[in-house]
Amino acid sequence: MKVFNTVKDLQHHLGSIKASPKGFVPTMGALHKGHFSLIEKSLLECPLTTVSIFVNPTQFNDKNDLERYPRTPQKDLSLLSEILRTDDAVFIPPVEEVYPAGLKIENYDFGKLDKVMEGIYRPGHFNGVAQVVSRLFDIVKPDRAYFGQKDFQQLVIVRELVRKKGLPVKIIGCPIVREPDGLAMSSRNILLEPSLREKAGIIFKTLSDASEMLKDSDIPEIKEFVASTINSTPGFKLEYFEIVDENELQPVSRKNSMLEDKKYFGCIAVWAGKIRLIDNIEFRHPYSKKVH
Ligand code: PAF
Repeated sequence: MKVFNTVKDLQHHLGSIKASPKGFVPTMGALHKGHFSLIEKSLLECPLTTVSIFVNPTQFNDKNDLERYPRTPQKDLSLLSEILRTDDAVFIPPVEEVYPAGLKIENYDFGKLDKVMEGIYRPGHFNGVAQVVSRLFDIVKPDRAYFGQKDFQQLVIVRELVRKKGLPVKIIGCPIVREPDGLAMSSRNILLEPSLREKAGIIFKTLSDASEMLKDSDIPEIKEFVASTINSTPGFKLEYFEIVDENELQPVSRKNSMLEDKKYFGCIAVWAGKIRLIDNIEFRHPYSKKVH
């Protein structure tokens, strides 16, 4: 693999190789199995893959979260060197390379999509994500880019960004990778206090039980179950739980407003001590016999 810190060197390298499609996996580092599932998919599908490692300051609405965000560049590079091929690239730039003085940075409004869930609790977050993803796409010019479905709202918003700007890149969403107890893999998991990490499987278990409840219960009852289960686990506090459709991300409040031909996801954000975790699973329409 080749490691680059500047846009110029990365572009020189990518421009010198005739390979198609070109794959791209944007990350903020502290790589785990979730990231590697994206990278492996890109390696299978694309003869040339770029992985970026950049903790993007513009997407952190909370300064403490930015400071605390795990940074393990040496370990990341050593893990990447085990799977990347000779010409695959790692882009690990300083902030000035991504946001040089004078760069025109757009502000984005995603309408309804960023006025729910993460958009409410992390104001400005998706604007920052869109800024960095758009800038990285401009630098790397990938044909395909790989994103995890754990950040479900982010994936929908990135698709909308690509649609709005007419970018020639295919966005590929990849399934959530979980720890044996069901906890969704996340760079933030290593920040969990051991006693909270031990109990963190409760998030996935609650989501799974809630999705089962859809057969016999209506949504207010399910929301009550999720809130009481999470909030009665010491150290855990629910921030939100919503059942939304996969395209518009609009929360549904009653089961009878769910449509058979749409897919729905239960999305959750939970504080485990000082660490905020998100997760989601599909909620099958209660009357749907369709296997997706
Ligand atoms: O999902 C992430 O790790 C980040 O939001 C991303 C897409 C790399 C942009 O900084």
